[in-house]
Amino acid sequence: MATEAEKWMNLPQDHMVRSTKLPWYHQDFEYKLKPKFRKLLEEWSGIAPEEVVPHIQRVRDVAWHVFPWPCIGEFWFIEQGLLRHPDYSNILKRITTTTPPPKFLDLGTCLGQDVRTLTHDGASPSTLYGADILPGFRDAGYALFRDSDRLDPSHFITGDIFSDVDDLGKTRGTWDIIHIAMFLHIFALPEQQAVSRNIMKLLKPVPGSTIIGTQTGSLDAGELTLKPPFCEPGEHKTIYRQNKDTMKELFEKAADAAGLKVNVWTEYDEDEARERAEGRKAKGDEWEKKERFFAGDKERRIFFRVDVL
Ligand SMILES: C[S@@+](CC[C@H](N)C(=O)[O-])C[C@H]1O[C@@H](n2cnc3c(N)ncnc32)[C@H](O)[C@@H]1O
Repeated sequence: MATEAEKWMNLPQDHMVRSTKLPWYHQDFEYKLKPKFRKLLEEWSGIAPEEVVPHIQRVRDVAWHVFPWPCIGEFWFIEQGLLRHPDYSNILKRITTTTPPPKFLDLGTCLGQDVRTLTHDGASPSTLYGADILPGFRDAGYALFRDSDRLDPSHFITGDIFSDVDDLGKTRGTWDIIHIAMFLHIFALPEQQAVSRNIMKLLKPVPGSTIIGTQTGSLDAGELTLKPPFCEPGEHKTIYRQNKDTMKELFEKAADAAGLKVNVWTEYDEDEARERAEGRKAKGDEWEKKERFFAGDKERRIFFRVDVL
């Protein structure tokens, strides 16, 4: 039987989820390109200022071809999820000032923008790693950031968080900091429980090890039934939206299962909710449908941080 990764890698070229007519495949993004990402491409990647916009557009299409995650269609990667996290400066400080530097893993790294955000802000590439189930994203990331001369390919691990034995599974117990952005919410609840337990196993089981991240959630936790094109017609598939309390419980239970004592902090990204409400008010429902196709009144991004005690 084909694994999930094989199914994704062999997704037919004419599959409906690849369509560039889907509402989350945005045509323009320049208005939301912030100076920080522009600087990353200009300074870290050496892209000429006038080339930045067409370059992002071109590589977004390459990434969409690897696998059409909605966040790629929506240009989420230019937002630099880790940079938005309230703990970003603490994490950066810890990576840049501790000796030896903590080993950092960006799980579900996709184009690897969060790893590059850290290198651009002064972290040593030698301590930073990304992991993704789809190997095609490593090259798409190199195409975006033009840094294969500075980030060794061995620092982009191809692995499945469900596997005990692949190249990612083999790193269990070795990571000081694990970052996960827009990752857990792609799974149904039982899978989120298994994934969170496996993330705990990846951590170095000592006080001070940390998990941080961001994901989509809802004020009302619950199951969402997917519709085509996210499943095949007639197939029953669900994902689960956590709220900040259930998210906390998810990590506490996972830590318990791993025999770890943890402190878990979760909070909504209220700035995002405010921006969305203001946009809706000023520009109408159509704006929200375009900008945040998957959001609604109750949706909230959740920030989290788990510290091993
Ligand atoms: C929604 S994307 C988010 C990517 C990135 N963290 C960001 O914020 O832009 C989720 C990523 O997780 C990867 N992924 C999905 N299932 C996985 C698994 N079982 N193990 C490892 N990575 C996986 C996907 O290929 C994809 O790149």
